[in-house]
Amino acid sequence: MSEVRMEAGELGRFMEVVLGRLGVPEADAKVCAEVLLAADLRGIDSHGVSRLKPIYVTRLRQGVQQAVTKVEVLREGPTTAVLDGHHGMGMVIASQAMGLAIEKARKFGMGMVVVKNSTHFGIAGYYAGMAAAAGMVGLCGSNARPAIAPTFGTQPMLGTNPLTFGIPTDEEFPFMLDCATSIAQRGKVELYARKGRPMPECWVMDEEGHCRTDAAGVLADLGAGRAALLPLGGAGEKGGGYKGYGYATVVELLSAAFSQGAFLWGLLGVEDGKPAPNRLGHFFLAMDVAAFTEVDAFKATAGAILRELRASRKAPGHNRIYTAGEKEYLELQRRLAEGIPVLPSVKQEMEELRRELGLEFSFPWD
Ligand SMILES: NC(=O)c1ccc[n+]([C@@H]2O[C@H](COP(=O)([O-])OP(=O)(O)OC[C@H]3O[C@@H](n4cnc5c(N)ncnc54)[C@H](O)[C@@H]3O)[C@@H](O)[C@H]2O)c1
Repeated sequence: MSEVRMEAGELGRFMEVVLGRLGVPEADAKVCAEVLLAADLRGIDSHGVSRLKPIYVTRLRQGVQQAVTKVEVLREGPTTAVLDGHHGMGMVIASQAMGLAIEKARKFGMGMVVVKNSTHFGIAGYYAGMAAAAGMVGLCGSNARPAIAPTFGTQPMLGTNPLTFGIPTDEEFPFMLDCATSIAQRGKVELYARKGRPMPECWVMDEEGHCRTDAAGVLADLGAGRAALLPLGGAGEKGGGYKGYGYATVVELLSAAFSQGAFLWGLLGVEDGKPAPNRLGHFFLAMDVAAFTEVDAFKATAGAILRELRASRKAPGHNRIYTAGEKEYLELQRRLAEGIPVLPSVKQEMEELRRELGLEFSFPWD
């Protein structure tokens, strides 16, 4: 089947219209669509429109995620805040939380905001990027449905728990380390399932500790506790898997203990066999560079470090070294010019949404 592409603005509008039809207020639908589109534009295909129907639309229809987001401030100090998202739209909650952290950092040098009772917020890099664009270092993380097994365990316990840093530089794009603390996150497994391809060896293990590569089966078995994603570094101690396990645990602790939110299996989103709120927790930190040094000087040092890394000796068979955020920036340029590729199964879901919601929207492939 030939690949179809969609212009970014059009894809964003489609997502906005869908969420609007499901009761998400216009301004909030815009925010949600922008976060999802940011993923699609940067080549993070696991976290954009491919999640629209299976995650957001489904959870809204099930009534376990609220279309109208009401964020409550539970506690607040000059540099800190604790928010309750009341199961609203995760992207709206997270944007507000990082916005508040930035505001506090602007006044006092640092800001940290934690959230409980939230829902899936998409790519963590969007929020770390908000801070980087404001001349700050952004750090954020989120817990998620149980997926990663602890070192020497086989039961999925921790979420894929992204730990994400955005750091401004003197280049056209920030340093952006935005990834899960598992070797692969759930969305990548979903992409393999969509494409009907086996996954690379040893991203996932079964109850006996053997590697599994059947993506669709793994997705079903993760929720049932019969399969687990491996932490960064892999199984056991040989590849340093305990480091990924440790970082995933750090994210779980920071996402749940400060906000006194749910954790581990409390985030499954299913109770007594029925859909239930995910009750996710997040944390957002903004560190204002101007409180430490001149912003331009910081950016120049950051840029110099990255350029020196890229210019270092290449491994045999490789002619380029990247720094984090670079590939996404290159893909952003490409996709702005060429459009966003839409997988056949995603295209089908978009057509289903148009039909089910009675939308008057034309796709480029109509
Ligand atoms: N909300 C959630 O619950 C949740 C959970 C897990 C992941 N996520 C999101 O999923 C997205 C993808 O996560 P992932 O774990 O699949 O990421 P990944 O494994 O694709 O890694 C991406 C990161 O690695 C960097 N990178 C890639 N190749 C590189 C190279 N050769 N040299 C240097 N840096 C390189 C990228 O610039 C980027 O920062 C992220 O945006 C993350 O926030 C969200």
